[in-house]
Amino acid sequence: MTPSASAPLLSAAVVDTGTPPIPEAQAWVARYDGRHGPLINLAQAVPDRPPPAPFMGRLAEAAADAEATRYGPILGDTQLREAYARHATGLYGGRLAPENVAITAGCNMAFAAALMLVAKAGDQVILPAPWYFNHQMWASMLGVAVRALPCRADAGFVPSPDDAERLVDGRTKALVLVTPNNPTGAVYPPATIAAFADLCRRRGLWLVIDETYRDFLPPGMGRPHALFEDERWRANVIGLYSFSKAYGIPGYRLGAMIADALVVAELAKILDTVQICPPRAGQVPVAWGIDGLATWREENRRALHRRAEAFRRVLRQCPDWRLDSIGAYFAYVRHPFGAAPAAAVAEALAVERGLLALPGSYFGPDQDAHLRMAFANVEAATIEAIADRLRGFILP
Ligand SMILES: Cc1ncc(COP(=O)(O)O)c(C=O)c1O
Repeated sequence: MTPSASAPLLSAAVVDTGTPPIPEAQAWVARYDGRHGPLINLAQAVPDRPPPAPFMGRLAEAAADAEATRYGPILGDTQLREAYARHATGLYGGRLAPENVAITAGCNMAFAAALMLVAKAGDQVILPAPWYFNHQMWASMLGVAVRALPCRADAGFVPSPDDAERLVDGRTKALVLVTPNNPTGAVYPPATIAAFADLCRRRGLWLVIDETYRDFLPPGMGRPHALFEDERWRANVIGLYSFSKAYGIPGYRLGAMIADALVVAELAKILDTVQICPPRAGQVPVAWGIDGLATWREENRRALHRRAEAFRRVLRQCPDWRLDSIGAYFAYVRHPFGAAPAAAVAEALAVERGLLALPGSYFGPDQDAHLRMAFANVEAATIEAIADRLRGFILP
């Protein structure tokens, strides 16, 4: 990511922040001539299957209701806050009440509000690297310094609490975890998450945990973590979630936060000022869908798990490409071209072979050895075709 052209009258904090990287990658595919078959797009981080008819019907009805044209409560509609609190209590244990929930215009908004609440310009936040680039971009635009916590391939890209502790200094205010992770797919074990919570408690830091991909944990894995069972969470944990991915509604912009009621009251200042209220119409079907789409979400999780298995099989046919990590619908794959920059590899793969993956370098420092391959929208037969695109590929 390169900073955009200098513009002296604009805030340097924004101008010096890298531009969103995905459009650059999308532009590569215009140069693919189709010779290996249709483009295989492994760049999309969201399933493109819309929710089923009972959801869409409720959505249409809610959108046609004049109520949806009005401002709503700052923290979201009561029904949705109640439904999410119930669901989260069932999932995590503990006592999560509607007062602990804020509904936001997507999980990016939730992260923006969380970080603004816990850090100001000149402070520091620790982000495991590779990271979700919008997290780094927002910190940069707030003037909050980012300390990279390197995640190692031989540790399955699960960050180490001990390594994190060595990065903490007097300016550090928060540590951010994303699990399952974007871009690596790594699922952090509950014990590791507990160790991070312990570290944050001891060192007086906020733990912000983004579980956008929570619904895509491996089947059979129950509770993602036990953070909310220990009442001490209230002092320093903020949980983030997105309805975009699991409910297939990224365009409707809905996410959720969990925090102590006193923290939510402070968050309300930010949310009121930035979003006034979360988008109205989608909240109605989502409140229903938390239970109503449970089976549909579970089917999707199983289908994606099968795709992950297929992806593993395919990568075994391409021994030069190493699958270093896989989870949710992300694979983090080491390319065979040594010191070649990941962006050069990804561009050539898109142009020469019609396979679009994102370079690791979009996700933070020292990621040039990897590409992120997202298989949320790739059917089993297409996954099989990936092997032909990778085998025999050489950098021009
Ligand atoms: C880790 C992570 N958090 C948040 C988001 C954004 O979610 P939303 O659409 O709810 O803003 C994404 C989307 O890619 C993501 O990967």
